[in-house]
Amino acid sequence: MKCQVAIVGGGPAGLLLSQILNNAGVDTVVLERTSRQHVLSRIRAGIVEWGAVELLRAAGVGARMDAEGIPHDGCVLSDNDLQVRIDFEALTGRRVMVYGQTEITADLYAAQDRAGTPFFHGVEDVEIADLDQALSKVHFTHEGERRTITCQYVAGCDGFHGVSRRTIPDEKRRAFERVYPFGWLGLLSRTPPVHDELIYANSDRGFALASMRNAELSRYYIQVPLTDKVEDWSDDAFWAELKRRLPSDAADNLVTGASIEKSIAPLRSFVSEPLRWGNLFLAGDATHIVPPTGAKGLNLAASDVFYLSSALIEKLKSDSNAGIDAYSERALARIWKAMRFSWQMTTLLHRFDDEDSFAAAMRRASLAHLASSETARRDLAENYIGLPY
Ligand code: APR
Ligand code: PHB
Repeated sequence: MKCQVAIVGGGPAGLLLSQILNNAGVDTVVLERTSRQHVLSRIRAGIVEWGAVELLRAAGVGARMDAEGIPHDGCVLSDNDLQVRIDFEALTGRRVMVYGQTEITADLYAAQDRAGTPFFHGVEDVEIADLDQALSKVHFTHEGERRTITCQYVAGCDGFHGVSRRTIPDEKRRAFERVYPFGWLGLLSRTPPVHDELIYANSDRGFALASMRNAELSRYYIQVPLTDKVEDWSDDAFWAELKRRLPSDAADNLVTGASIEKSIAPLRSFVSEPLRWGNLFLAGDATHIVPPTGAKGLNLAASDVFYLSSALIEKLKSDSNAGIDAYSERALARIWKAMRFSWQMTTLLHRFDDEDSFAAAMRRASLAHLASSETARRDLAENYIGLPY
């Protein structure tokens, strides 16, 4: 098999990259380790920066998002009963879209099916080779048969546990990591959201988040110790703890119901540099992980794909190396700013077990400053709606 760009990983980054390249007449093959059902079963964040909204529309996959997504002009940060609304629209002139990653992935799959893009699910033992040659190779096993794709470039979009980042020699990679001493217990319920905007709640008992997928589907999270197991938490125990952490007016309005999904996710900040090794380019979770507090995971994958697709199209259509030579540095510049914001939001809103009274006082003072300073709210809003590409 031959193609111009072989894409390892069929999650949001790989699918969006393939869609944009195909639209520009660049042929791709997508290799995905799991089944399409498994990819679509993952419950992930639902906040789309406006830059990513416009990228999805330009890629021809924005119709259902525009029909079913919910534009949000702001969100609320709370500290017990102190509530601070961050008015994105008034502070930045921009907004975000509430539309689940699962839906975006489904829309991308549908578009790739229409384009007839070669797609392999259930691939095993992927091996990326000859990255320093004019043509590179991706070897893989599919349905028991060992196969090889010969390509000009390889996009590593295979997430944190993928193979592509590790194809870069250890001594050539630099990793930066912060593992947080708590996780997020998430619950999805067919109940109306407690508030029409998201509430990021800081409380003496720890963090909570009230989010949503649509008017009938709510997504809630509470910070839990890493030692907790999801089976330790009944639905009733979850709802009771969530009520203790939300501002009291929201807690009084909370509609509870049976969980249709419940899981615990760890929180980590991670960056691996560089994003290029010869003909291999990394994008998305393959090269960075953010704690979900800033809702940046999907959105960073989108900006990586914007930079990488532009660079590959420029190379393959105009034979210019400028974009591919600048890709790693250009993408990392935005990655690090989003990494900083996600770390700041996590530190601002979570209770750390080993913290002293001063740290708790600093959290409260930071939230009080947001309440009194439009400049502070504008800084948070600019980062939350997404810095320019
Ligand atoms: N070969 C082929 N596919 C692989 C391999 C491999 N060796 N290893 C992993 N994969 C697949 C995974 O099964 C997954 O479907 O690569 C895909 C990577 O997708 P994501 O992990 O979703 O990462 P990405 O596409 O970068 O999207 C980032 O997804 O996980 C969320 O929070 C994250 O919102 C962010 C977004
Ligand atoms: C979600 O809806 O799952 C969600 C929203 C915002 C976040 C994290 C998760 O910051």
